[in-house]
Amino acid sequence: MRAIAFAGCASRYSICFPSTTSRACMYSRTLRLIHKPVICSYSPRLCYNSLPEDGAAVAKNKHKLGVLVSGRGTNLQAIMDACASGRIDAEVAVVISDIADAYGLQRARKAGIEAACIPWQKGRRKAWETEAVRVLKKAGCELVCLAGFMRVVGKTLMNAFPDRILNIHPALLPSFPGLHAQEQAWEWGVKVSGCTVHFVTPDLDMGPIIVQKAVRVEEDDTADTLADRILVEEHKAYAEAIDLVLSGRTVIEGRKVRILGESGLKTS
Ligand code: GRF
Repeated sequence: MRAIAFAGCASRYSICFPSTTSRACMYSRTLRLIHKPVICSYSPRLCYNSLPEDGAAVAKNKHKLGVLVSGRGTNLQAIMDACASGRIDAEVAVVISDIADAYGLQRARKAGIEAACIPWQKGRRKAWETEAVRVLKKAGCELVCLAGFMRVVGKTLMNAFPDRILNIHPALLPSFPGLHAQEQAWEWGVKVSGCTVHFVTPDLDMGPIIVQKAVRVEEDDTADTLADRILVEEHKAYAEAIDLVLSGRTVIEGRKVRILGESGLKTS
């Protein structure tokens, strides 16, 4: 059983305050440099203490991720695996889907992770996002990862997690944004495609790029075989990008992301 309590804590990047009026931890892992002024983005981080059965409080310092899925969730699985193996210092705190029977929700449940379906209703984006933000904040999420989430992100979610929402796209952006990117690339006849992990901004698939991985297009490829090989790279790229963001090595400068130091991603 895990009891959850707010508590004062200090970590490498965060300072938390015990009072009920200042529960949020302030930290500035992602800096956004927009031309002249330097503006630091602050996001709330809730500190959870877990209480084992003997009642002794054990500090939990893992970063908490929220993952949004609409489908099979292989990227979600890759993120959960990277967390479990310690390749990224995080845990998936909650998985949310707009589709009740998305297999991604089942993956979460199998792993003992909270899985929430918020059914999508046409024309009710704001209400959907308001509920999603509530669930994400309640779970203490500090970073939101879109992993095959088939909805455009609106202001409500974006404002709740400024510079803290990532997306993965199965092409080398800015080429082939939107749906069926692998098929678009294959039909265009490109010789190299790949995947991109980027910060989410109001422009669809156009946010600052964190990680890209290239995949050669072979002569005998079909759109499907190309998609399969891109997917393998997606799974590596997402863990790498999450690690970079959580460890404070991403600096957004205009539309570029500067990476500080080496990736440092631990290999298994
Ligand atoms: C991936 O190709 C991802 O790049 C795109 O949607 C697909 C989701 O696949 N955004 P999965 O659900 O993670 O297996």
